[in-house]
Amino acid sequence: MQSEQERSSALAAWNARVEKRESCIAIIGMGYVGLPLALLFSEAGFRVTGFDIDEKKVSTLNAGGSYIQRIEPKEIAAAQALGFRATTNMSEVSECDAVLICVPTPLTGDHEPDMSYVQGTVDALAPHTRSGQLIVLESTTYPGTTNELVVPTLERLGPAGTRVQRNGEGAGSLMVAFSPEREDPGNTTTPRRQVPKVVGGVSADAGQAAAALYRTIFNRTVVVSSPEAAEMTKLLENIYRCVNIALVNELKQLCLAMGIDIWEVIDAAATKPFGFQAFYPGPGIGGHCIPVDPFYLSWRARQFNQPTKFIELAGEVNEAMPAFVVETTRRALVREGKTLSGARVLLLGVAYKRDIDDLRESPALTVFNLLRKAGADVSYNDPYFPEVGVGRKYTLKLQSTPLERVPEFDCVVLATDHSEYDIPALVAASKLFIDTRNATKGVAAANVVRC
Ligand SMILES: NC(=O)c1ccc[n+]([C@@H]2O[C@H](COP(=O)([O-])OP(=O)(O)OC[C@H]3O[C@@H](n4cnc5c(N)ncnc54)[C@H](O)[C@@H]3O)[C@@H](O)[C@H]2O)c1
Repeated sequence: MQSEQERSSALAAWNARVEKRESCIAIIGMGYVGLPLALLFSEAGFRVTGFDIDEKKVSTLNAGGSYIQRIEPKEIAAAQALGFRATTNMSEVSECDAVLICVPTPLTGDHEPDMSYVQGTVDALAPHTRSGQLIVLESTTYPGTTNELVVPTLERLGPAGTRVQRNGEGAGSLMVAFSPEREDPGNTTTPRRQVPKVVGGVSADAGQAAAALYRTIFNRTVVVSSPEAAEMTKLLENIYRCVNIALVNELKQLCLAMGIDIWEVIDAAATKPFGFQAFYPGPGIGGHCIPVDPFYLSWRARQFNQPTKFIELAGEVNEAMPAFVVETTRRALVREGKTLSGARVLLLGVAYKRDIDDLRESPALTVFNLLRKAGADVSYNDPYFPEVGVGRKYTLKLQSTPLERVPEFDCVVLATDHSEYDIPALVAASKLFIDTRNATKGVAAANVVRC
C-alpha cells in the first residue's frame, strides 16, 4: 500500500513534469473536439500525438492539412513544427503520459446511448497503457460511464496487474478522470481559455493530476468530487439549454397566435440583470450535443426508475419545430394564391447553426425533407456546404444554389442565419421570405413572415 507521503510525491512529480512541459499527450479522436484540443496543448508547449481510426483524417493532418473549416492548415503546420503528429497506431499510447479520449457518443436507432466508440477506444488502448499514466474521458456521456465502463475495461484488458487508483485503496497504476468538453463551435466571443474546465477523478489524485494538466490551457479548472458529478454537470448544462429552447419555441407559437413579437419580448426580458437568461427560438435544435445528450440521462434515469419529464417534453416541443416551419410556409404560400405542393422553395442555411460547417442533426435538413414530402420543389444554399445529401437516407446529392437565383423561387426559407447572408438584399430579391431566426429584425418588408 502506497503511503500518503509517496502519493503526494508522485503527484508533485506529475505536476513538475506538466509544469516543465515534459509530458507527452495522446488525444484520441481527431474530430471537432479532439483536434482543437490537440492544437491548444501543442501551442502550450506539449508534445502531442493525435489518434484516429480514420486514415484519411490522419494522413490529411500529417500532410499539414485541415478538414474542419474553422481550423486553418497553417495552424496544423504550426503544431507540426512543435512536434504534433497523427497516427492510427494505438500502441503509441504507451509513449504518452496523458491520454484524453474525445470520440463520438451518438444515439442508437432506438434513442439509446451508443457506447461502441468509447468502448472500442478503451478496448484498443488498454493493452498499451503503462503505470503512472492519466486517462481522461472527455466524450459526453451518462453518469457512471467512467467508473462502470472505462475503469473495469482498463483493469481487464490492461497489462497484467493494471489497477486504477481509487481513494483509500492503495497505489494503483493508472489515474482515471472524466472532464467534459465545453467546446462551442462558431463562438468567437469567448476564447476557449476562458471556459472553465470541470474535472472529476476516480481518485482525488487523478482529479488533481488532470486539473494540473488542463490548467496549462484553461484559465480555471473546477474539480468536483467524482467522475459522476463531472458527467452529470455536462448533461445538466445541455439539458438546461434544451429545456429553455423548448420553452421559447412553445412561447413563440403562442406569441405568433397572439400577435406578439417573441424576440422583442425576449430582448426586453433580458434587460433584467438577474434571474433571466435569454434563449432564442428557431426551426428546431441541432448538433451533436443538444438533441442527443438529454437521451443519455433519460436512458440512465430509467435504470433508477426515475422520471425525466422535462427532457421528454422539451424533446417533443423541439422536434415539432421543423413541421411548424413547414406549416407556416404552406399557409404563407396559400395567402399568395399558391400551394406548397409544386412550389419552388429555396432553403437558406443547412448547417445546424450560424457560421459553422456542421450538419449533424441539423433541423434544416428535416425542414428540407418535410418540404419535399409535401410536394415542394426544394433547393438550398449554404456557403459552408457546396453539396449535401438529402432525402430519407440523405443519399440524394444536391448542389448549393447561387444566391443570384433567389428571384426564381416562390419562397425563401431562412433556416440558418450565416453572417455572410445580406438579409435586406435577400428579402428584396425574394417573392416571399420565411424567417425562422429573427434575421429580418428591423427590415420592414411586406413579403417577410417570421416563424
Ligand atoms: N462537437 C462539439 O461541439 C462538442 C461539444 C461538446 C462535447 N462534444 C462531445 O465530444 C465528443 C466528440 O465529439 P466530436 O464532435 O469531436 O466528434 P467527431 O465525430 O467530430 O470526432 C470524433 C473522432 O473520433 C474518431 N474515432 C471514433 N472511434 C475511434 C476510435 N476507436 N479510436 C480513435 N478514434 C476514433 C472518429 O473517426 C472521429 O474523427 C462527443 O462525445 C460529443 O458529444 C462535442
